[in-house]
Amino acid sequence: MDKVRVAIVGVGAIAINSHLPSYAKRNDVEIVGFVDLETERVQQIAKKFAEDNGRPVPGVYSTIESLVEHTSVDAVSICTPNATHVEYATKALHSGLHVLLEKPMSTSAKEAKALEQLALSKGITAMVGMSHRYREDVTLLKRFIDAGDLGDIYYAKTRILRRRGTPKGWFTDLQISGGGPLMDIGVHALDLTWWLMGMPKIQSANGFMIKGVENEKVDFNRSWEAMSSTNKQNEVYTTEDFAAAFLRFENNSALQLEVSWALNGPEDDALKVELFGSRGGLTLDPLRIYGATHGVLLNTTPTAKLGPFFEHEINHFIDGVKNGTAVISDFSQGYEVVRMLNMIVESAQIGREIAAT
Ligand SMILES: NC(=O)c1ccc[n+]([C@@H]2O[C@H](COP(=O)([O-])OP(=O)(O)OC[C@H]3O[C@@H](n4cnc5c(N)ncnc54)[C@H](O)[C@@H]3O)[C@@H](O)[C@H]2O)c1
Repeated sequence: MDKVRVAIVGVGAIAINSHLPSYAKRNDVEIVGFVDLETERVQQIAKKFAEDNGRPVPGVYSTIESLVEHTSVDAVSICTPNATHVEYATKALHSGLHVLLEKPMSTSAKEAKALEQLALSKGITAMVGMSHRYREDVTLLKRFIDAGDLGDIYYAKTRILRRRGTPKGWFTDLQISGGGPLMDIGVHALDLTWWLMGMPKIQSANGFMIKGVENEKVDFNRSWEAMSSTNKQNEVYTTEDFAAAFLRFENNSALQLEVSWALNGPEDDALKVELFGSRGGLTLDPLRIYGATHGVLLNTTPTAKLGPFFEHEINHFIDGVKNGTAVISDFSQGYEVVRMLNMIVESAQIGREIAAT
């Protein structure tokens, strides 16, 4: 395959800010189509994309069926709101397309499992957009972990605590988002930490979720804005704004998670990870590795930053499509993460720890 023909499904904020510019950097990718409900707005984006990048104008369609009927396409980036991910990914896989699916893979573990099975039966590239895995500082840490510098990792802490960072738009509408900060940013924190821990099997979850601050407006404050035209001012706010969880794994390790869109504490928007192992430990943000060498305690400060991680993610996907190589955030891992998120919600709802079934 010389050129990979890619279509974008859901041409909103993440598609325009991250997916499209990353694809546009590759000469072996042609953006052949856009699928979106808001076709008028997306026509303008298609024209601008073509002008800015000296490329043909992608066709604009309102359904994936009309996309595949009118266009030759190999792969899709699915960047629609969470509750529609499974529907579009299922249609794309049935049409034989490779799929890069935005996070969370699904809002329901049952649906995620069915999608995982479908992708396996098709034998094509199916990847969840767990963008933090592709950061350069994370890649560096993973190298130390894989080399055994931490020994057995038995405890982890992760958090993304925003003081006032509720995204504007559909995110606060439970029907469309499937959850608040847990589904939105908790999925990143959990996925990254669990992956760095070596993806242990979940044993039990103890979750806590609350809407503690809600929609209090403050001045001079910015947050992510969805481009979909619904719920612009978060009129519908049916999700939590804070979630915490304690997860136990079958290998006798444990993970503590905290995420908020709004919380009365210091602003701390970054994804923080702390890993504690039998031989060493590490933190992400600040980037440090803790160990002992020649009988002395040693703190190492590696030099790496985030880097253009979305480009790395898109490159990884396209490499998978072109070469048939395995991707690092596949649908089976996406399913395990959604399963843990669902367990956290269920535990929070009933108010006690639940065991994996
Ligand atoms: N990887 C990351 O760090 C990251 C960051 C932000 C968002 N995201 C994910 O990207 C996805 C989109 O988020 P966003 O902020 O870009 O939202 P958005 O509202 O800006 O974009 C969604 C687009 O999908 C279109 N759309 C909505 N419903 C549709 C439907 N049923 N069929 C077809 N098109 C539809 C909208 O018109 C809009 O153009 C979400 O799943 C979100 O979790 C990921």
